[in-house]
Amino acid sequence: MELHKHIFLVGFMGCGKSTVAKLLSESYNVRHIDTDAEIVNEQKMSIADIFERYGEEHFRKLETNLLLRLKEEAPAVIACGGGMAVRDANIDIMKSCGTVIMLTATPETIYKRVRHQTDRPILNGHMNVEYISDLMDKRTPYYNRASDVKVTTDNTSPEEIVQKIVEII
Ligand code: S3P
Repeated sequence: MELHKHIFLVGFMGCGKSTVAKLLSESYNVRHIDTDAEIVNEQKMSIADIFERYGEEHFRKLETNLLLRLKEEAPAVIACGGGMAVRDANIDIMKSCGTVIMLTATPETIYKRVRHQTDRPILNGHMNVEYISDLMDKRTPYYNRASDVKVTTDNTSPEEIVQKIVEII
C-alpha cells in the first residue's frame, strides 16, 4: 500500500496515538513520527522542562513550527501531542497535507492508561477522571473539526485499531 499524504493521529492524551502510529507506519512502509519525541530531540529538553522553563505557549509554537516542517517532508504517519489540534492554525496545516484521524477513548479509559505516568505537565496535579472529562469536553470540538475520521479505542487492541484505519483510508 502506498501513502500519498501524511496520516495525522490526533486526540486526547493516552488515546494510543504513538502506539498506533508505529504499527500503522509498518502497514505503509513509511516513517512514523511522534511530535512530542521530535520536539524533545530538537530542543534537547523534556516536555516537562520546556513547560516549566518557557511555558505552554512556547511549546505550542514549537508544535506549529514542527508541523510546518513536516508539511514539506515525505508522507509519514504522525502521532500528534494531545494539544496539537487545539490551535486552528495547526488544523489548517494538517488538513492541507494529510488525512487527520481522531482516536477516542472514554475519560475512564484514559485515566486507567495514564494514571501512573508523570511526564504530562497538563495532567500533573489533576490526575482524576473529572479533570480529564472536563478537558476532553473543551477539546472535543477542536478534535472533531480537525479530523476526517474518528476511531474509538476502548477495549480495542492496537492491531485492531490499525486494521480499522487501513480499511477506512
Ligand atoms: C499535551 C499532550 C502531550 C504533550 C504535552 C501536552 C496536551 O502529548 O504534547 O504534554 O496538551 O494534551 P500526548 O497526547 O502524546 O500525551
